[in-house]
Amino acid sequence: MSQTTSQTSSLADGVPALVRPSVRRSIKAEPLTCTIGAELSGVSLGDASRDDDLFAEIKELLLTYKVLFLRDQDITRAEHVAFAERLGPLEDHPVAGSDPDHPGLVRIYKDLDSKPEHYENALHTDGTWRENPSLGAVLRCVESPPVGGDTVWVNMVEAYRRLPEHIKIQIEGLRARHSIEATFGAVMPMETRHKLKAQFPDAEHPVVRTHPETGEKILFVNGFATHFVNFHTPQNVRFGQDYAPGASHLLNYLTSQAAIPEYQVRWRWQPNSVAIWDNRSTQHYAVQDYWPAVRKMERAGIVGDRPF
Ligand code: SIN
Repeated sequence: MSQTTSQTSSLADGVPALVRPSVRRSIKAEPLTCTIGAELSGVSLGDASRDDDLFAEIKELLLTYKVLFLRDQDITRAEHVAFAERLGPLEDHPVAGSDPDHPGLVRIYKDLDSKPEHYENALHTDGTWRENPSLGAVLRCVESPPVGGDTVWVNMVEAYRRLPEHIKIQIEGLRARHSIEATFGAVMPMETRHKLKAQFPDAEHPVVRTHPETGEKILFVNGFATHFVNFHTPQNVRFGQDYAPGASHLLNYLTSQAAIPEYQVRWRWQPNSVAIWDNRSTQHYAVQDYWPAVRKMERAGIVGDRPF
């Protein structure tokens, strides 16, 4: 393997010591913005699914850039799954079904018959309605619209870092409720929605989580968060009323940070393009501007750990 010097961005220089390169580099990583995302070249994910060194390189780049992009990955579904499983066991999805031959390879297929209003349309971190939200995902494009259908990712470490100090102090120790019912459930008939909620009760997570591998602090509220659970305490509630108004305003403010372009990268898909993201430190948004064109994506989501 040859050593390359492609990681010259300020992003790479500015990353915490824990995620600075320690493995030999054979993959070229071209940063796409100053804060998030790099395009890799000189590697096949099929090879990386079988090669410990290549996988270790990609894992380290993922911790640095938070989302990695690759073109021309003409890999099999088995290779897609094998690569993703190196990151951890795959999870299924209660709403989007898996490929029958590859459990955990979730099909996100949209065509003429898909109702435009049911398209994905909120910035989110996958699965925060679970106790253990996804660690990350490997998403491959099978068919792309001629134009449109891009995906946006957001660096939520940067979003936390740039918060005003008084907000950082205010949200320390805060916890939020996350709900599948309020999002995926919203388009379902009442009975189905109740069944979904019974199967996936709301989860509660810290508003600021710590990345288990890099130690970075992450702003961890997204489109699935409905409310804070400990904004009000016995000390600040008076006669059962809100003594410290503004909880929902604060939640809206925090959630809206993900919409700031300086924290984002936007990726245009082609068939066999792949994105690999760290779901713990990012949010994403699949832009729904392409109906009635067809867009077919296959996603291997990886089971995560409990945020702390
Ligand atoms: C997702 O939310 O995981 C899917 C993203 C996409 O289809 O671009």
